[in-house]
Amino acid sequence: MVRMKIENPFLTRGYAGPEYFCDREAETKQLVAAIANGRDVTLVAPRRYGKTGLIHNAFRVLEKDHAAVYLDIFAMDDLASFVQAFSSAVAGRLDSAAGRIGRKLLSFFKSCRPTMTPQDDGSVVFSFDVAPSLAKATLKETFDYIASSGRKIVIAIDEFQQVRSFPEKGTEALLRSFIQFVPNAHFVFAGSKKHMMDEMFVSPQGPFYQSTQLMALGPIDATKYAAFAGKFFRKAGRPFAAEAFRHLYDRFDGITWYVQAILNRVWADGHGLDSAERADAAVENLVAESGSFFIDLLRSQTAAEQSLMKAIGREGVVEAISAGDFIRRNKLPAASTIRSAAAKLMERDLIYRTEGGYVIYDRLFGTWLGKL
Ligand SMILES: Nc1ncnc2c1ncn2[C@@H]1O[C@H](COP(=O)(O)OP(=O)(O)O)[C@@H](O)[C@H]1O
Ligand SMILES: [Mg+2]
Repeated sequence: MVRMKIENPFLTRGYAGPEYFCDREAETKQLVAAIANGRDVTLVAPRRYGKTGLIHNAFRVLEKDHAAVYLDIFAMDDLASFVQAFSSAVAGRLDSAAGRIGRKLLSFFKSCRPTMTPQDDGSVVFSFDVAPSLAKATLKETFDYIASSGRKIVIAIDEFQQVRSFPEKGTEALLRSFIQFVPNAHFVFAGSKKHMMDEMFVSPQGPFYQSTQLMALGPIDATKYAAFAGKFFRKAGRPFAAEAFRHLYDRFDGITWYVQAILNRVWADGHGLDSAERADAAVENLVAESGSFFIDLLRSQTAAEQSLMKAIGREGVVEAISAGDFIRRNKLPAASTIRSAAAKLMERDLIYRTEGGYVIYDRLFGTWLGKL
């Protein structure tokens, strides 16, 4: 792998190796140990906490003796597109002798012939064009191919709750039925919608009930995060005040993406993190940049939903959404209207329920709403 020098050490997407990855040591060990010992894992946390990063960090370790396949299904909308991506990602990863790959692999796929594209490095990339009527058959063939290879493989399916919006009902049960018979493959199912993930993995009626190890991901420890961030600033001869970092961390409850995004801006502007004001100014800039997007987002909700979002934005956290004083204070419509607006907004990931109460899911949007 080519090691490139990174201009800005605070990534806001992707994974660039352990140097730019803060802590998660215990979580990485836990994930690696589960897979290495034959346990599938369900990883659940709201968006932006660092699930995808953690998977990649664990893959670095697992890749030593597993073929590792990562698949994000967030944008997929039916079984055929899922199978197409799944089979393409798996195919060709399990044979070692380059010359034999094609023939061995082709003998498994009867329902759908993969296209083979030779790469400059001598490897071959396979891609499948799956006809909807044959999607199940191709999926079964892919699992047969995995089982026959006998090689250890770890497959992470990110944003797994997306399978529940496929028009084909029961995709998760279908997967579970195949997975049971491939002892050499182990799975990480990651998801950001807790109630949907719970219905599949935690509910006794769910197809994966008690079949995986459940892992929740919290924020990175504040002290470790400060040490990680401080090291980059100091090495570059820039100031770094631990209290300023703490202010930033607390402002976003330590949620990784926000902390990264603000540090990225402060760094890009050539500054150090020298004061709380410096962090706040970067937040203001980021919120202002998204202003026109936030206006459109707000305006595309109903009137009741808009006033509820504005009220939550103003108050920050709302313990009881249909409480009389909250409604009066914010001149909101009747409690029943508010309850159904809240349900809709939660479904759309616009508001989110934490232990402390309801918050605006996107914290920058929340800041913007609070200032209207
Ligand atoms: N441990 C970490 N240290 C530094 N940056 C991280 C860490 N984990 C995640 N990130 C960064 O935070 C952002 C959000 O993380 P991501 O893994 O995409 O969250 P999720 O998958 O939970 O939505 C990404 O920019 C990622 O690069
Ligand atoms: Mg993710």
